[in-house]
Amino acid sequence: MGNRVYLFDTTLRDGEQSPGVNLNADEKVQIANQLAKLGIDIIEAGFPVTSPGDFEAVKAVAKKVKGAAVAALARANFNDIDTAWEAIKDAEQPRIHTFIATSDIHLKYKLKKNREQVLDMAVAAVKYACKYTSDVEFSAEDASRSDIDYLCKIIEAVIDAGAKVVNIPDTVGYATPEEFYELISAIMKKVPNVGNAIISVHCHDDLGLAVANSLAAVSAGARQVEGTINGIGERAGNAALEEIIMAIHTRRDRYKVVTSVNTKEIYRTSRLISSLTGMPVQHNKAIVGKNAFAHESGIHQDGVLKERATYEIMNPEMVGIPQSSLVLGKHSGRHAFRERLAELGYNLTDEELDKAFKRFKELTSKKKEISDSDIEAIVTEETIKIDNKYVLDYIHISSGNTIVPTATVVITVDGEKKKAASWGDGPVDAIYNAIDKITNLRLILEEYSINAVTAGKDALGEVVVKLRKADNGEVYTGRGVSTDVIEASAKAYINATNKIAINQKK
Ligand code: KIV
Ligand code: ZN
Repeated sequence: MGNRVYLFDTTLRDGEQSPGVNLNADEKVQIANQLAKLGIDIIEAGFPVTSPGDFEAVKAVAKKVKGAAVAALARANFNDIDTAWEAIKDAEQPRIHTFIATSDIHLKYKLKKNREQVLDMAVAAVKYACKYTSDVEFSAEDASRSDIDYLCKIIEAVIDAGAKVVNIPDTVGYATPEEFYELISAIMKKVPNVGNAIISVHCHDDLGLAVANSLAAVSAGARQVEGTINGIGERAGNAALEEIIMAIHTRRDRYKVVTSVNTKEIYRTSRLISSLTGMPVQHNKAIVGKNAFAHESGIHQDGVLKERATYEIMNPEMVGIPQSSLVLGKHSGRHAFRERLAELGYNLTDEELDKAFKRFKELTSKKKEISDSDIEAIVTEETIKIDNKYVLDYIHISSGNTIVPTATVVITVDGEKKKAASWGDGPVDAIYNAIDKITNLRLILEEYSINAVTAGKDALGEVVVKLRKADNGEVYTGRGVSTDVIEASAKAYINATNKIAINQKK
């Protein structure tokens, strides 16, 4: 067994199964490119058979993303596998990931099949997938609640059938670290041909143990770990990959394994995924939360000033968190802006740089001191490539605590200026009602959140909205950034409606 641990990111598949998350093809490609830059080994781009939209998104990722394997999920049946292959066949390194449940509870109630039938289906699926590619992964869904002897029998059979990776999911987040260590150790010992495949783990976080279970599995010999950035995913989510990466890195004395990750890309990846999914990162979240490196108590601050190692086991630079030094202001030119971006790790195209620089200049007229976090917020917005049907021209509002809030909005729709006025319970509601009049969309505001990017009254406000289409229930996320929170609110709403328009066009 080597000491290299392969990282399998399923943010675009299991992560996208988080309630209310809906990524389009452009967004998936953008995230996948960043995951490749981070050094992820395998990117699970989606579950192509589930919808034509997901099929197209997986296809786009497979075609455009270089430097990482691209996996597609398929149930253990030929149609799913054909569809998965069709979606990923253009990838540099395509991987088919096929799965079937192995626990008695799933066999009895969900699959209505006996153990022999499920074993036959697993073997047939792996053999069929191997006709397309030698890179086939098999997952035994609900493995942690399966009978261990039966599980080992299936693992042996799928390895004989050609699976190069066998994944052991804790699908419902039920296992404890000691138990999961024992399970992986038993598999390593009992399965005679285990040396011909990599044992992988995939842990859910229902009891908050996903990262601990994944690390216990690494200690027991697992050499692929699956998870998502920011730990997003079905229910309580998946194991947070950034935590696993940093635990392996910081405690290499203990785990004695390595990954291929460039840890300096962690923070940017986390921010991008948070922006595009609309899932905020909690402030005290390990590694990427706003407070992860903040020392509040006097004793801690004093210790850190004397010697960082007193209270810091990692430093923010290691994970690429921009330092809040004041960097640029209104006299800074394009050259200095480009240099600072390069230092922060952004390599923009000329077109993106033009747009970001224009935003930067606008910001300097409203905000004296521009920090790295401000730059990061506007660059994230300007580099999210979406084809905009609706462009906000201007908004006027009239509001106060004794009058009915009203708003006038002008939007360019496919090149034509359209104006509407409306009233609402507050200024944001009035603006959203006016926008709906122009777009003719019936939208329900499911979530609205606002955050200040930095401290200070002139801080940039970042608004994230989740809109549900009244006709079909689809959910779309939008993000807007401005020093004016009303403008940020309008931008976030229009950003989401542009995503609806893209989907409708497709
Ligand atoms: O949680 C799970 O079991 C899964 C499998 C499909 C790998 O997501
Ligand atoms: Zn899962």
